[in-house]
Amino acid sequence: MLAISRFPDEVKSDFREAFDVTFIDVMPTGGPNAALGAREVLLLSFGSELRTAVIGALPASLKAIATYSVGYEHIDIAAARARGLTVLNTPGVLTDAVAEIGLLLMLGAARRATESIDLIRSRHWPGWNPTQLIGVELLGKNLGILGMGRIGRGIARRARAFGMTIHYHNRSRAAPGLEDNAIYHARFPDMAATTDVLMIAAQLSAETRHYLDAGRVAMLKRGTIVCNVARGDLIDDDALIAALQNGHVRAAGLDVFENEPTIDPRYYDLPNVFMLPHIGSSTIETRRRMAQALIIGLETLRAGGKPANRVV
Ligand code: DGY
Repeated sequence: MLAISRFPDEVKSDFREAFDVTFIDVMPTGGPNAALGAREVLLLSFGSELRTAVIGALPASLKAIATYSVGYEHIDIAAARARGLTVLNTPGVLTDAVAEIGLLLMLGAARRATESIDLIRSRHWPGWNPTQLIGVELLGKNLGILGMGRIGRGIARRARAFGMTIHYHNRSRAAPGLEDNAIYHARFPDMAATTDVLMIAAQLSAETRHYLDAGRVAMLKRGTIVCNVARGDLIDDDALIAALQNGHVRAAGLDVFENEPTIDPRYYDLPNVFMLPHIGSSTIETRRRMAQALIIGLETLRAGGKPANRVV
């Protein structure tokens, strides 16, 4: 196996126990082929792109691509399928870590964490007074979740404990056992009309790119908080930034951005943006579970079985 990415030491040990593996930190400029040689598995992650031309030129000995991520938009899946390659990812094992970050984003945005941290770290905090950094509570608010998959449901479960009422919009209604009293809206505008906090937890696709555009931002109630744990490209930055500047959107909690790490620089100057550098899945527990998911999938494949985490 050739593994391209920086992995925690524990994760490297997990992979080494299961496979004969060579690690390199970054994708070579000319593509992976020279380093791959006759290896059968290419392991990489979000940030290492495998587009059509590169996939077409991969050596015939390669059997599988394993992405150390749940998202796989960095791989041209149609090209991998055409080339007869199996692609594995890590669904399910990131749910709790990302859902916890979802709660952090909501709290950080609602309670003005950016301004608070800046104030105390500036060493110019004048001391407590009743007008200081007044935010809003989550208690009693409506949470509108865009994309009620595993992560959306994980956020819903935790948000209920904060006293929030859960609404959601999906292409289709969740199975009754998975809905857990969340209120389904078949149309985004209906959910937007009731939402105090919008949580984006949807998958990125050609259809959902820039889903939260100026038209949909206008459908939100004035003062809505917008959070994103999924992918930055789901948001049209121009639309969100304008609404954060004019107060239509009260605050945003963002863990993901379009064009990471070269994010729209206007975000840095907005005190009502609580932002994190894509750390949703960054816990050691999750990192090791991601490795285990790929190890199990690859071993299943090697034994001639059908891995549960097979994308194609
Ligand atoms: C994932 O697994 O998709 C995480 O967002 C890291 O890319």
